[in-house]
Amino acid sequence: MKAITVEPGKPGTARLEDVPEPDSREGSVLVEAIAVGVCGTDVEIVEGKYGWAPPGKTRLVLGHESLGRVVDPGPSGGLKKGDFVVGIVRRPDPVPCPNCAVGEWDMCRNGQYTERGIKEIHGFMSERWRIEPEYVMKVDPSLGILGVLLEPTTVIAKALEQVVAVGQRAFWQPKTVLVTGAGPIGLLAAFGASLSGTEVHVLDRVEAGLKPELVRALGATYHSGSVLDLGFEPDVIVECTGVGSVIADSIQKIGAGGVVCLTGVGGGGVSGYAVADVAAKAVLKNNVLVGSVNANKRHWYKASQALARADRTWLGRLITRREKPENFKQALERGAEDIKVVIQFAEV
Ligand code: BGC
Repeated sequence: MKAITVEPGKPGTARLEDVPEPDSREGSVLVEAIAVGVCGTDVEIVEGKYGWAPPGKTRLVLGHESLGRVVDPGPSGGLKKGDFVVGIVRRPDPVPCPNCAVGEWDMCRNGQYTERGIKEIHGFMSERWRIEPEYVMKVDPSLGILGVLLEPTTVIAKALEQVVAVGQRAFWQPKTVLVTGAGPIGLLAAFGASLSGTEVHVLDRVEAGLKPELVRALGATYHSGSVLDLGFEPDVIVECTGVGSVIADSIQKIGAGGVVCLTGVGGGGVSGYAVADVAAKAVLKNNVLVGSVNANKRHWYKASQALARADRTWLGRLITRREKPENFKQALERGAEDIKVVIQFAEV
């Protein structure tokens, strides 16, 4: 079968190649791939900056934002042939650490977790894949290809849960949420926040086009320019750019008692800001900075419930391009108007 593979750590090694059928040790459920979303993490892996092959192997099958159709449910009672499913990304560490031991693999303490398509286990960019039944999430079939948006939605379900958990440390009635960055994660954060009834604002660099339209369609307010120029102090900021200056500005601008949740993974520094000055602001306003990565089963469940209720037309506009597996290189390049690009392996 065909798969998109890469040699982690070596840029320019991604290729579409013939690989053996998935190993039965990877799980008793056999799935036919429908589509796989491409995200910044995949681009980093292809650029040789992130990612690990399975032990003893040099290449990794890429892809962690899956959507597939069950071909063989195996002995598990809960699945049947034809079900639309998405694979959970992370597996607990084998020790296990206390968090993995209670099913919170997203909060793994020792870093020995594994992740499909990212860290030591093959991903989903292959014509067929196998998975353990307990790591399968069924998706509403009426979502069709939009089920491929489940994985990024789980990342947001966790981040928003973290914000609420942290906010509960004191009396807290958040009224305004700012999302920085209107990429797929930012737009899904705005969608998630809008379900809570708070006033939602989204800020991005672009001034016109699909991103502002999608924000307004949620009933949220769109801003371009600097966070510092906003005319209000948000109670919550969900930071989805990973850009140093946006992070530093967010810490300056957050309201007293407010929570800044960092979801973007960037790199590099910021000139013109002294760390102690930024920290002093956070101290004097009782702010919390919370980093959030990955998602556990509770978040996968919440995200699937939220997606099933979402406006299909709005969600559909997030998928701006579908590419065939042989055109994976184009899929990894983000165009100016792209939000989510997916690689489509089979018709829905
Ligand atoms: C994935 C997460 C993963 C993280 C770090 C993200 O792109 O969505 O599931 O935990 O990368 O590897």
